[in-house]
Amino acid sequence: MGMKKIRKAVLPVAGFGTRVLPATKSLPKEMLPVFDRPAVHWVVEEALEAGIEHFVFVTGRNKNAIEDYFDRAYELEESLRRAGKTVQLKMLEDMLPEAGSKSFVRQQSPLGLGHAVWCARDIIGYEPFAVLLPDVLIQSSPSCLTQMMAAYHEVGGNVIAVDPVRGDQVSDYGVIAHGPQMGKSMAVTGMIEKPARDQAPSNLRITGRYILQPEIFHYLETQPRGAGGEIQLTDAMLRLMGSQAFYAVEFEGQEFDCGTKLGYAQAFVGYALKDLEWGQAVRTMMEQLLTRP
Ligand code: G1P
Repeated sequence: MGMKKIRKAVLPVAGFGTRVLPATKSLPKEMLPVFDRPAVHWVVEEALEAGIEHFVFVTGRNKNAIEDYFDRAYELEESLRRAGKTVQLKMLEDMLPEAGSKSFVRQQSPLGLGHAVWCARDIIGYEPFAVLLPDVLIQSSPSCLTQMMAAYHEVGGNVIAVDPVRGDQVSDYGVIAHGPQMGKSMAVTGMIEKPARDQAPSNLRITGRYILQPEIFHYLETQPRGAGGEIQLTDAMLRLMGSQAFYAVEFEGQEFDCGTKLGYAQAFVGYALKDLEWGQAVRTMMEQLLTRP
């Protein structure tokens, strides 16, 4: 199948992070450290592994720290250089993105995820692209988006990541209806955003990773407000499903929802435990903490 390579990814980062206040009062939630780097850095790494070349951040006011993070820190580098701290200097050098590979657009009002994605339309242009919600961190090898790319190369169309969720939690998410598993994916036959418990068509929630065809922008443009009074990506995807195929991938990996205090704590510990240099020491330290009277 002749398929266009997925080169660009949209990261919607305009939300306030109200569920993790006060940590997010003056710091964007995407910049909360998850072990040794901001949450958003893990998401960028996931996407880079999958071959993404250009990142479109849909930001809001007070999000400048994200833009600065992906730029040179001139004074810091200069001071490391003078102090002969070559290891740290090299680390910063290695993580510096290629010039011109990041774009930042402002979502001026919090009208919803669908609207945030729509704000990226001019930079994406007419090609398929990925969307990664940076609240959600997924620890896996190969990365979640890489697993989705493999499915995409099998079936094409639109691909969304899903994972099973407890029945009492379905109304916090988008939920899919689906056909049987075929190869790496299953056909999506319906989706609903934030369903009531008895309306959920399955226990598979939409996880926050998408590969979408550019026709989605056409539907986002006219998408009326849905659940929570917001312009929902799920609603626009459902309309696009009238003319294009959607597939769901139940990925392998550990998922963390950094949008909540518990999920954030779990992510920090989860990434610390997996760190090659510090993981073992972190485990020992945690065991001591847990047995402390
Ligand atoms: C968004 C999506 C939802 C998805 C969720 C994953 O909801 O609209 O379909 O299940 O992310 O975290 P939000 O968390 O922005 O309310």
